[in-house]
This record gives sequence, C-alpha cells and structure tokens, in this order.
Amino acid sequence: METGILHTHHLVVVIYTLFIALNFVVVLANNRNALLTIKAKTRFVRIIFEVILLGTGVFLMLKSPVGISDYVIVKWVTVILGIVFFVLGTKKMNAIMMALSLAMFVYTYLLGSTRNILLKPEEMRVREAYLNEPDDQTKGKAIYDIACARCHGEDGKAGYRKAKNLAISELSEDAKAGYIKMGRGIMPSYSYMKEEEIQVLVKYINKFKEK
Ligand code: HEC
Repeated sequence: METGILHTHHLVVVIYTLFIALNFVVVLANNRNALLTIKAKTRFVRIIFEVILLGTGVFLMLKSPVGISDYVIVKWVTVILGIVFFVLGTKKMNAIMMALSLAMFVYTYLLGSTRNILLKPEEMRVREAYLNEPDDQTKGKAIYDIACARCHGEDGKAGYRKAKNLAISELSEDAKAGYIKMGRGIMPSYSYMKEEEIQVLVKYINKFKEK
C-alpha cells in the first residue's frame, strides 16, 4: 500500500515540476496567449494533481515511522511556497517568481531523495556518524537512525513498507549483514557501507531482540 502511494507521489511530483518548467519557458518567452491557453486547458487536471500531490504527501507522512522530522516540515513549506509562486508567477507573467517556484520544487524533490535539509547524501552522513560517534553502540544507533529507521522504525518493529520486524528476526549476524549489503525486494542494498559500519549496525539491531 505505502509503496504504491509513494510511487504515485513521485510520479505526480515529477509531472508537476515539468509542468512548472513548461509554464516558466512560456513566461520567459512572454507569450501571454499560450499561457492562457495552457491555463484554460489544464485547470481541472492541475487541481487534481495538486490534491493527489498533497494528499499522498499527508498519507506518507502519517504512515512514516519517523513521523514529522525537520526535513519533512521544510518540505511542506517549500512545496506550498512553490505552488504559491507558481500561481502568482503565471498570473503576473513574472519570470522571477516562476524561477523561484521551479527552484522550490527541485529542492523539495532533492529533499525527498536525500532526506536532509542540506541535501547531504545518506552515504556521507553514515560515514560521518561512524567517524564522529564515540562508541559502537552510538555509532550503530546513529547509522540505524539515518538509514533504517524510516522503514523499520526506531525500535525495529514499525513494519513500514512491509519491513520485517527486527525484534523477532531469527537471522544470524552474517545473514543480517548479507541483507544490508544486498538488500531484498523493497529493502535497498547498502553496498556503499563499509564492513565496519555494517558490523556496528548488526550489533545494534541484534539488541532489539532483548527489548
Ligand atoms: C525502504 C524500506 C527499508 C529500509 C530503508 C530498510 N529496510 Fe530492512 N527490510 C525491509 C523489507 C521490506 C524487508 C523484508 C525483505 C524481504 O525479506 O522480502 C527488510 C528486511 C530486513 C532484514 C531481514 C529480517 C529478517 O528476519 O528477515 C534485516 C536484518 C534488515 N531489513 C535490516 C535493515 C537495516 C540494518 C537497514 C538500514 C541499513 C534497513 N533494513 C533498511 C525494508 C527496509
């Protein structure tokens, strides 16, 4: 269920962003007639897209085991600003507003894929966490919270997007490490992780069983 909604959300975001880009080009070309034609022909479709975009966004936020984190709040602000600039930009034929709208959407998209306000890739944040945290327990927790909690939840039990309950996993340490390296189905592969990072992570998720 969540996966289907997520794919729909991605698709709608991409189409909506391309639509803003198209309008931006028309505003740059200063072609008011073309703009009015596009507006008249796409009015209803656009509202439907906006409803799907925001509706799937709310659904995914409510389902997410990590809930409303800082990047999610920023995402809502930028996407709403993006829509406001789009409406004003097309109304006033203002290229700067259109550029801002497009920038907001591109940034929001990148926020969604990196899940970080500074758009720092997950790999880099995992590496920093491993280097900066003082001991194996805190390294494991930090890496887990960055890479895994969004599906498995902070306690390993969330089951978002059919993620297995890590607190009842019967797998050996090697098998868990294999899952992390290779991924399976919806679970992504973490081939970027170094052996020592995977080791602290496996030790950390093993502890879920004791709780
Ligand atoms: C996008 C969601 C998602 C993310 C992120 C994710 N997982 Fe998973 N994980 C899954 C799913 C789904 C399965 C079940 C896969 C299957 O067996 O088909 C799973 C299975 C597992 C299993 C096997 C459990 C068992 O007993 O079968 C382990 C171990 C695991 N994940 C650890 C992790 C770790 C560690 C991370 C972070 C590095 C992580 N996962 C990130 C979705 C995710």
